[in-house]
Amino acid sequence: MKLLKNPIFIIVSILCSSCAVEAEYVPIDERLDALPGKPGVPLDNEITEARVTLGKNLFWDPILSGDQTVSCATCHHPDKGYADGRALSSGIGGKGLGESRTGGMLVKRNSPTILNTAFNGIENNTPYDPTTAPMFWDNRASSLESQAKLPILSLEEMRGHGFEKDIIIDTILQRIQKIPTYVAQFESAYGTNSITEMNLFKAIATFERTLIANNSRFDQYVNGNSDALSDLEIRGLQAFIDSKCTNCHSGPMFSDYELHSLGVADHSDLKESDDGRDGQYRFRTPTLRNLSITGPYMHNGTKRTLEEVMEFYEALGEGEIENPNVNGDMLSEDLADMEVDEEQFESIIAFMLSLNDDHFDKSIPKSVPSGLPVGGDIK
Ligand code: HEC
Ligand code: HEC
Repeated sequence: MKLLKNPIFIIVSILCSSCAVEAEYVPIDERLDALPGKPGVPLDNEITEARVTLGKNLFWDPILSGDQTVSCATCHHPDKGYADGRALSSGIGGKGLGESRTGGMLVKRNSPTILNTAFNGIENNTPYDPTTAPMFWDNRASSLESQAKLPILSLEEMRGHGFEKDIIIDTILQRIQKIPTYVAQFESAYGTNSITEMNLFKAIATFERTLIANNSRFDQYVNGNSDALSDLEIRGLQAFIDSKCTNCHSGPMFSDYELHSLGVADHSDLKESDDGRDGQYRFRTPTLRNLSITGPYMHNGTKRTLEEVMEFYEALGEGEIENPNVNGDMLSEDLADMEVDEEQFESIIAFMLSLNDDHFDKSIPKSVPSGLPVGGDIK
């Protein structure tokens, strides 16, 4: 089976090259697809250069945290694939970046990459709504705009003990108001007197919508370049489909954006078991794009390598449940026909790595308008 564009469609589009109809991809395995060129954007938050500039400054500026030492980039850093490379994230009180960060309050989950989160919620051939795009390992937020508030309110991530939840946002807005560069940048981005909570999060979301990596070799293959994947990777794609990974890792992001329980064991550093949003140990299917730079894996980073992930699935297919709090009835029904064995590990891993696209914005600002250390205490 090949995933190339439907040949009939290609002929039609050649004959019709002067027509105004845009070529649409017609994949043969209907559950997988390439990413489109551009993400969806809410009608009330069009992308403009001024908004991206402002959003990027805010993303990198520790002024958004209680003690002004943590920025979004502390845990979503381009050198770490816009994740942090740690099993569990480390917030307020910490120093350093990634695995070498010490002393911070522990967050109970693994930091997912921001790359392509602008596409969260996308399915094959159906429009998706960026205002309801699912966010977090348990889908508890919808849209990048509404997600951006939550790390600031979170005690461990950015708020710290010095500020109560009900004053932290106003405190930050007052700080920003005092910085002429921000006043000017908010004005260019959202008009006069626009330093508001809503615009703060709109600007951050706009910057995040520029962090996309949608031209992996897999995308090129689906878009008609049959040489883009090696034989091993094509065998891996086939094995990925045959093993029923596509029951959940489907669509252009390789996620159905649904919650499932796979019974992943808790991280040993946590005082309390993380049972997901509704006590059922369900977590969202993560994207499989850019895995080479977003490890360690799973909602709590307990799998260090893709080999470990594959071993986990092999055991799960044989009925072994890692987490003693999860019983067979709680497991996702979409696991029922999933089966994978060691012989397929190499090709499936090779295939998953063909979903990497290294061409994304990795630039780090030289300074941020507050004058604080860029990215926070990450040196
Ligand atoms: C201390 C580390 C830390 C900081 C600081 C932080 N994040 Fe995160 N981020 C995380 C973790 C951990 C998760 C997953 C939490 C969960 O799912 O419960 C996450 C999840 C996300 C997601 C959801 C991604 C997805 O695919 O579901 C987005 C978007 C995001 N963060 C953006 C931001 C922005 C914007 C900021 C700054 C305002 C920020 N983060 C600050 C650690 C951090
Ligand atoms: C029942 C739905 C389902 C099926 C089937 C499934 N997965 Fe997953 N996958 C998930 C969920 C949910 C997670 C996150 C689980 C967690 O953290 O608790 C996950 C995590 C992963 C991760 C880690 C990604 C990261 O960034 O942390 C990889 C890699 C992966 N799956 C590959 C596969 C492969 C390969 C197959 C087929 C052998 C497969 N999955 C089958 C739902 C599924």
